[in-house]
Amino acid sequence: MKIIMLGAPGAGKGTQAKKISDKFAIPHISTGDIFRANIKNDTELGKKAKTYMDQGLLVPDELTCDLVVDRISEDDCKNGFILDGFPRTIPQAECLTEALNARNEKMDYAINVDVPDENIISRMSGRRACLNCGATYHIVNIPTKKPGICDRCGEPVVLRDDDQPETVKKRLDVYHAQTKPLIDYYGDQGILKTVDGTQPMETVFEEIVKMLEA
Ligand code: AP5
Ligand code: ZN
Repeated sequence: MKIIMLGAPGAGKGTQAKKISDKFAIPHISTGDIFRANIKNDTELGKKAKTYMDQGLLVPDELTCDLVVDRISEDDCKNGFILDGFPRTIPQAECLTEALNARNEKMDYAINVDVPDENIISRMSGRRACLNCGATYHIVNIPTKKPGICDRCGEPVVLRDDDQPETVKKRLDVYHAQTKPLIDYYGDQGILKTVDGTQPMETVFEEIVKMLEA
């Protein structure tokens, strides 16, 4: 099964993608996590990506497309994968469609996690992320068992650099201008499913599983 997660920043794409990846045993590919890992390791890609991410802007398509096309060509993606945070622009979607066409394959589902802008800012200011393993928490909705410590790996959890309120507003503007058109793109391909992302995390997950198993 090949799945794309669509939705505004903070809609809960990452939270759901991890659960879907576990349930269906397919790799979770998050371009945001890949960039953050590169920043942590101070690679050339990380240095370039950070200048855009810290401003709430998208990393240029030419730094992003090949990375994902290479990643989905790896062995562990043979039975499917879930893309989280990619594609994010129409050119990225076209690049993905072309790469799959060349292998006589196509995406199966694009799941749009729908959350209005009003809810996004409070979610992001409460989010805490583990930069070591990628796990995500929320100080109120999804707290860590021990304060400030990742349940999965025991490392500290932090507010992401791009979760400052001004940067979140910029990311929302960028989402509306550049990413939202993908809803129609995948609607036209007939693979779009929309879930109400304002519901509790478990309810959102159950609804997605029902859509995928229908
Ligand atoms: P990325 O890491 O992809 O960030 P994003 O899309 O902005 O998404 P987020 O990770 O912020 O949110 P999410 O939807 O995954 O929500 P989460 O599950 O964490 O990208 C970061 C940056 O990298 C971009 O700005 C860009 O610069 C660059 N980048 C990445 N990919 C790129 C690409 N393809 N092209 C160009 N640039 C790219 O949930 C949010 C919070 O809400 C958490 O605290 C969570 O615990 C909580 N929560 C989740 N679900 C619920 C619920 N149902 N109820 C209550 N709280 C919930
Ligand atoms: Zn961790």
